[in-house]
Amino acid sequence: MSMRITILCDNSVGPISGTLGEHGFAALIERVTDEPILFDTGQGFTLLHNAARMKKELAVVSKVVISHGHYDHVGGLMPLLKDFGGVEVFAHDGIFASRHRIKDTGECYPIGIPFEKSAYETAGATFNLSTAFREISPGIMLTGEVPRVTAFEKGDQGLYCDCSGQEPDATPDDQSLVIETDKGLVILLGCCHAGLVNTLEHIAYQIGRRDLYAVIGGTHLGFCGQEQLDKSIDALKKTGIRKLAVSHCTGFAAAARLSRELPKEFQMAMVGYTLDI
Ligand SMILES: [Fe+2]
Ligand SMILES: [Fe+2]
Repeated sequence: MSMRITILCDNSVGPISGTLGEHGFAALIERVTDEPILFDTGQGFTLLHNAARMKKELAVVSKVVISHGHYDHVGGLMPLLKDFGGVEVFAHDGIFASRHRIKDTGECYPIGIPFEKSAYETAGATFNLSTAFREISPGIMLTGEVPRVTAFEKGDQGLYCDCSGQEPDATPDDQSLVIETDKGLVILLGCCHAGLVNTLEHIAYQIGRRDLYAVIGGTHLGFCGQEQLDKSIDALKKTGIRKLAVSHCTGFAAAARLSRELPKEFQMAMVGYTLDI
């Protein structure tokens, strides 16, 4: 084994005693030859607790990726900084934008990043922001902004820039992580607001590889329409994917469907899930 990916935060928990769930996502990538990378931080209620329960030493993490600026992915950054000090934070510069969810009932909730950029910097964050596809560590790349090219990936229709409901938020800051391994590509998703097929096509365009080994994380298929789910499954089946470990914003109904359609590949990436490569 040269690498281990462990889910630290998710909506659901596995069998590790004392770990806690929250609506959010975080995964730790540990490697034998290079530094660890923390991908997302959850809401902030469970990251430090779950890491301690699983004996994961977050004090040695110096690189943190924020997949996008929603509270359930960036909320754990401040607690992490307060406990362990400075880290380099890789993200898209749109993570600081104002964003809201408007429910069918008309209720409006802020769902953006909880603090100003300067507050994170005061706490020890150094932001490394870019919209470009880039390598952030040997063999590990961030997608940058993902072009929305498929007609069927309409995304989450409940997201807006403010409570007026006039300006839909397509979450342009959404990025995924690409890890090159001997077995093929391993893709870590935060919420995948850009769409799974858009994301996979963008990765193929950027690095000329389609040998997909694993997809892990939030697919957001639970917040999208039936057509998007159907066509995403069709596309996934054509990739030759070996492990599909979904969680977070995938939701029960979409996860159940994925489990039926890809029974050998499907797993739930709940807190404590690990993938060794
Ligand atoms: Fe999310
Ligand atoms: Fe999100």
